[in-house]
Amino acid sequence: MSKNILITGGAGFIGSHVIRLFVNSYEDYNIVNLDLLTYAGNLENLTDIKDAPNYTFVKGDICDADLMDQLFEEHQINAVIHLAAESHVDRSITDPLSFIRTNIFGTATLLNTARKYWKGREDVLFYHVSTDEVYGTLGETGLFTEATSYDPRSPYSASKASSDHLVRAYYHTYDLPVVLSNCSNNYGPNQFPEKLIPLIINNIKHNKQLPIYGDGKYTRDWLWVKDHAEAIDLIFHQGAVGETYNIGGHNEWKNIDLVELLCDLMDEKLGRPQGEARKLITFIKDRPGHDRRYAIDAAKIQDALGWTPSLNTQEGMTETIKWYLDNEQWMENVTSGEYQKYYDDQYA
Ligand code: NAD
Ligand code: TYD
Repeated sequence: MSKNILITGGAGFIGSHVIRLFVNSYEDYNIVNLDLLTYAGNLENLTDIKDAPNYTFVKGDICDADLMDQLFEEHQINAVIHLAAESHVDRSITDPLSFIRTNIFGTATLLNTARKYWKGREDVLFYHVSTDEVYGTLGETGLFTEATSYDPRSPYSASKASSDHLVRAYYHTYDLPVVLSNCSNNYGPNQFPEKLIPLIINNIKHNKQLPIYGDGKYTRDWLWVKDHAEAIDLIFHQGAVGETYNIGGHNEWKNIDLVELLCDLMDEKLGRPQGEARKLITFIKDRPGHDRRYAIDAAKIQDALGWTPSLNTQEGMTETIKWYLDNEQWMENVTSGEYQKYYDDQYA
């Protein structure tokens, strides 16, 4: 049976890498990309594959139950890879209800359509893409495993935790075939510059201050976005139904150390004297409820599916910087309009 896959949020950062991988790797699959094109969705991320015969784009909202029914019917959807979400922690602090609407109600709407259309079927799959932030925060030591208790602390992570619980509830209650993954922080091409790495790269380029929250010793486990897309491909095809897989980079960095690395790589790339960009570092007021440390134990996906990250940090950051400098127009387009007001409010 051919696969007709509804991928939600495919015009966003991670979604666009997943769409490209699936469209290019699986010519016999029909890929339907459903995306509302919020501030974070951008069809420029997909110009290279937009005319592929196995690809269809639909602009729409995952909260729209009639549209979900129509898409399942029209495209005979037999798999979902669900990435659509409000994804930025800082925005969830100023506007939590948008996160509750999209991440919780939207996921429930999609699950409900799948339950209705797939009743009793085993040849179908609902793949829910989630975050390690559902586990809360770590101290100096320890790693998140699939067995770590949920302890979300921001409106974003609480909304993602809720969506994870709903996905598992549909598995247990309605026998809906599901699989989940919880991934650490991604970086790479096409990430919206509200997130740390593209924000820092863009600000260094324009000689603007580099805002570091609090003492800068908050730790994240960074993963190259294309490695996440590869992991999603593996889990989609080989993951066990009902299971959860943690995905992470084995790549912990304190924010300040990572920003200093970006400063030094950017100085070199832009031909500026070493040390120049570091002068722009500015410690600012901390994020409320800021999680101290995230780090993933990725042993399960490594042992069960043979997945490991491909790039080291130096390679990954160098590639990332190159992409943003080579794609100035992309950055200009996404930072014009709404973004400027967001930036001014956030960093006033
Ligand atoms: P993103 O913000 O770049 O993209 C989200 C996409 O969802 C956008 O294209 C947006 O237009 C779309 N969208 C938003 N609301 C929608 C709605 N109501 N209906 C349809 N589409 C809608 O996010 P991202 O960083 O690519 O994250 C994708 C997924 O991966 C999210 O579920 C996120 O929680 C998860 N995740 C992200 C990271 C990370 O580091 N970025 C890490 C782990 C997991
Ligand atoms: P971010 O990219 O927003 O991802 P997340 O909050 O989902 O981990 O932030 C990564 C880290 O960088 C986090 O500890 C917050 C910090 N940060 C700053 O110090 N300054 C900034 O301007 C931003 C956006 C983030």
